[in-house]
Amino acid sequence: MRWLMTAAALALAAAPNLGVAQQDLGEVEYQTACAVCHGESALGNGPLAALLKINVPGLTGLAKANGGVFPVMETLQKIDGRSPLQAHGGPMPVWGDRYTASAEALGGPFAAETVARGRLLSLVYYLESIQE
Ligand code: HEC
Repeated sequence: MRWLMTAAALALAAAPNLGVAQQDLGEVEYQTACAVCHGESALGNGPLAALLKINVPGLTGLAKANGGVFPVMETLQKIDGRSPLQAHGGPMPVWGDRYTASAEALGGPFAAETVARGRLLSLVYYLESIQE
């Protein structure tokens, strides 16, 4: 665990602006996990979108649709998907579950939740940075 904290401290020290570092992480995460449906430029036109029965929304107009303010909490909750209201049976994967499951091995539920939150938040920062 100690090495992990040291690595995190080094990463923080190396990043002059945490927001930017988070955003870069978010971009990598986005291109890996989301672009297949939402599209490389988040216009809702990824290769898998054509195969789904329902429309995949673009993600660059979230601020516009919310009166010009990027809806941070709503977006976080939609991506997380574990809140029962949002999870209501759409094809959108429940990322909160996936991220915690893949991090359980790191050190139990608390570590898993922390890692999952970090990944979700970096995605939210990235999406905020690409609003039209
Ligand atoms: C299998 C295809 C698929 C993948 C992969 C996917 N999504 Fe989605 N996403 C959807 C669909 C379909 C919707 C709209 C219906 C719904 O909410 O289930 C949606 C909705 C959303 C919304 C809500 C948009 C709005 O207008 O309110 C956000 C935000 C979002 N996705 C972000 C992401 C992020 C971030 C990732 C990657 C971690 C991701 N999605 C991966 C299919 C996908």
